[in-house]
Amino acid sequence: MSNNTPTLRLGKHQPRYPLIQGGMGVGISGPRLAGNVARCGAVGTIASVGLSHNSPHFVEEKMNYFDSNAIVIKETLQQAREIAGPDGVLAVNCMVALTDYDREVRAAAEGGANVIISGAGLPLRLPEYLKDFPDVALVPIVSSPKAASLIARRWEKHYGRQPDGFVVETPATAGGHLGATTMEQVYDPALSLEVALPGVVAFVRDGMKSDIPVIAAGGIWDRHDMLRAFEMGAKGVQVGTRFACTVEGDASDRFKQAFIDAKEEDVVLIHSPAGLPGRAIKNPFVAKYLEGEVESNPCFANCLTHCRYRRDKETFCIAMALVDAFNGNWEKGLFFCGSNVTKVDRVSTVEEIMDDFFPDRSQQSE
Ligand SMILES: Cc1cc2nc3c(=O)[nH]c(=O)nc-3n(C[C@H](O)[C@H](O)[C@H](O)COP(=O)(O)O)c2cc1C
Repeated sequence: MSNNTPTLRLGKHQPRYPLIQGGMGVGISGPRLAGNVARCGAVGTIASVGLSHNSPHFVEEKMNYFDSNAIVIKETLQQAREIAGPDGVLAVNCMVALTDYDREVRAAAEGGANVIISGAGLPLRLPEYLKDFPDVALVPIVSSPKAASLIARRWEKHYGRQPDGFVVETPATAGGHLGATTMEQVYDPALSLEVALPGVVAFVRDGMKSDIPVIAAGGIWDRHDMLRAFEMGAKGVQVGTRFACTVEGDASDRFKQAFIDAKEEDVVLIHSPAGLPGRAIKNPFVAKYLEGEVESNPCFANCLTHCRYRRDKETFCIAMALVDAFNGNWEKGLFFCGSNVTKVDRVSTVEEIMDDFFPDRSQQSE
C-alpha cells in the first residue's frame, strides 16, 4: 500500500483498504454489493432498513414485519459472507430512527456482522444492546464534534466503552437522510467536511485521548477526494452513491438508470417523513411532493419511531416509496442520492471502483 494510505482499524477488524461502502436502504446495498465490496478488501455494508419487505417470511408466511426483519438480516449477512469469504469485513448499517433498532442491531451481531454503523439519530444506547458482542466494532455516524462528544461521554459514563470509530457525514453532499435537522443546516459551513472532519479528529485526539479512526463520508468520488480527506485527518472514507450504480448493486436496473440520467438540476432536498432533510432525484413523485401534493401508499411496516405520515398523515410512507425506487418504479419511487449522482455515467463494477481508489491493487495479491 502506498505511503499516504492509512490503515483503517475498526476495533478488532482491519480491512485491506481504508474504504467503507456506505449502507444504502431500502435494499440498495444488500448482500451482493456488500459481499463483493468486502471480497475486494474494503468494508461492505448491508443497510438493515426494510430488508424484509420482499422476503417470503413477510410476504408469503405473513410473519410479523419486525420478526421477519430479524431473520432476514441474518440471512442477508450469510449470503454476503459467502461472497466475501471468511476474512472479508462486513458491516450492517442500522438507523437509530427505526422502531426495531435494538432488535436489528442484535440480529446483525448474532448474524456475524463485524461492524455496526449507526446514524439517523444519536446511537446513545448502542453498547447496551450489544454488550454480549465485544468483538463487534461500533461506529456512530455524526456530523459535528458536538455529536461525537455527546456519544463518547455517554458511552464512557454508562458503558465504560469507546466507539471504535466515527463516520463524519457531510450533509451538503451525502445521499439519503442527512446528518442535519433543518434545511438551513444542510449547507451550514460548520457541518462542511473541511470544518467538521478536522473538528472530530481534534476531539478524538484531545478530548478522548484516543486514536480511533475518523472516516469521511459525503461527496467522496475518487482517489483525489479520498487523499484530501486523509490530509484533513481521516483514516478512511465512506462512499455511497458511486457504489449504488454497479453491476453488483442490489437495486433494479431502472434504479441504476435513474442515477445515470440524473443532472444537476434534478438533485433536490426534501423533508422526509422522519422529519429530517434528505437528498433525492426529482422524479414525478418528488416533483409533486415539492408542489405540496402527494399520494402515499399505506404504511406497511410502522418502521420509524417518529413518522409524520403515520402520526399526522403528512408526507408519505417512506418505506414504500424507497421500495418502489429499489424496484425501479420511476413514477412513484423515492430515489435517494448523493450530489455525486451527476458524475454517474454508466454501471461500473466494484473492482473498477476499487482500482480507481487504489491503483496499486492489481499488483497486490488478493
Ligand atoms: C440511495 C441511498 C440510500 C442510503 N441509505 C442510507 C441508510 O439506510 N442509512 C444510512 O445511514 N445512510 C444511508 N445513505 C448514506 C450513505 O450510507 C453514505 O454515507 C452517503 O451516501 C455518502 O455520501 P456519497 O453518496 O456522496 O458517497 C444512503 C445513501 C444513498 C445514496
